[in-house]
Amino acid sequence: MTHETPLILPSLLAADWSRVAAEVKRAEDVGVQWLHLDVMDGAFVDNISFGPQMVQTVRKCTSMFLDVHLMIHRPDHYVDRFIHAGADNITIHVEARYDSSVLETLRHIRAAGKQAGIALHPDTPFEAALPYVNDIDLLLVMTVVPGFGGQPFMEKETMPKLAAARDYRDAHGLKYHLEVDGGIYTHTAPIAKAHGANLFVCGTSFYGPSDTAAAMAELKACVA
Ligand code: DX5
Ligand code: ZN
Repeated sequence: MTHETPLILPSLLAADWSRVAAEVKRAEDVGVQWLHLDVMDGAFVDNISFGPQMVQTVRKCTSMFLDVHLMIHRPDHYVDRFIHAGADNITIHVEARYDSSVLETLRHIRAAGKQAGIALHPDTPFEAALPYVNDIDLLLVMTVVPGFGGQPFMEKETMPKLAAARDYRDAHGLKYHLEVDGGIYTHTAPIAKAHGANLFVCGTSFYGPSDTAAAMAELKACVA
């Protein structure tokens, strides 16, 4: 898989948590390779979701690649718990508070054999990620304000940044994936793809429709 491989990443935040195992299987059954898990602490974002135990629960249900998105302060304090819970990629926000530093945390994640990502809030410029581009496997460009699913896609605030991240990567021979997250539907995913995205986080657009196979087919077709 390269940074040109388009993937649909269902976000568990939009699933029915009373049936987590079935919702994970729902994704597996339609060929999903990466599952996105949104961790929220109620401090970095104005919402609280779940922690390492949910990652561990999902890990027991599936062999899919678990893409853990930490919307939390002090991600370095908690990161080992997510590593041990079975995360395959761990993405941290440049805007969060750290006991150590963003760079040390990224290097710690990779030293544990996991993939590491940096996430940017819609208000944060691409330049904020520059010190870390050699230490990441993916750059997550948030296309909504982090904290809730079901929000509208923020095209004008985020697409120029996404294209800048792509152009910088390609001009410098780097290989990081470009992931978009929030408000990704069949009408917005092609816009993000045209600006360089290859990983598409879909919460409402994947777990909303009852015909999951049809939803996945439509989403895959619009980023192919
Ligand atoms: C928001 C999360 C997103 C969200 C996507 O903070 O990071 O992953 O779940 O939700 P939709 O796809 O419903 O906009
Ligand atoms: Zn997310």
